[in-house]
Amino acid sequence: MYEKSVELLNRAVADEMAAVHQYMYFHFHCDDQAFDLLANMFRRTAIEEMGHIEVLAERILFLKGEVEMVASMEVQKVHDVHKMLEVARKMEEDAVRVLQPLGQRVRGERRCGFKEDL
Ligand SMILES: [Fe+2]
Repeated sequence: MYEKSVELLNRAVADEMAAVHQYMYFHFHCDDQAFDLLANMFRRTAIEEMGHIEVLAERILFLKGEVEMVASMEVQKVHDVHKMLEVARKMEEDAVRVLQPLGQRVRGERRCGFKEDL
């Protein structure tokens, strides 16, 4: 009944999974290069992205769907901190483009299930 919503939610889960992996990768490499503040920021951001997966998974289960825990892309092996920030900015800009229509769709459904907004 809600297959399209579940599919879209799982696409968002896949992007969030990729973000968690990418930000943790950046965290490890910033830490290794002694960029402590940046390393901590990437670590906190990865944890925040995990929270987004939790919200999406909660909604998928509410709709009686299956949560597909597959990342949408491989980690980009970037070691330069300036390039890391460029990649992070692009990932966030792309996420906004994907999540805005999804948020409109799920809010448009009359049933609720989110504890918080997307
Ligand atoms: Fe996210």
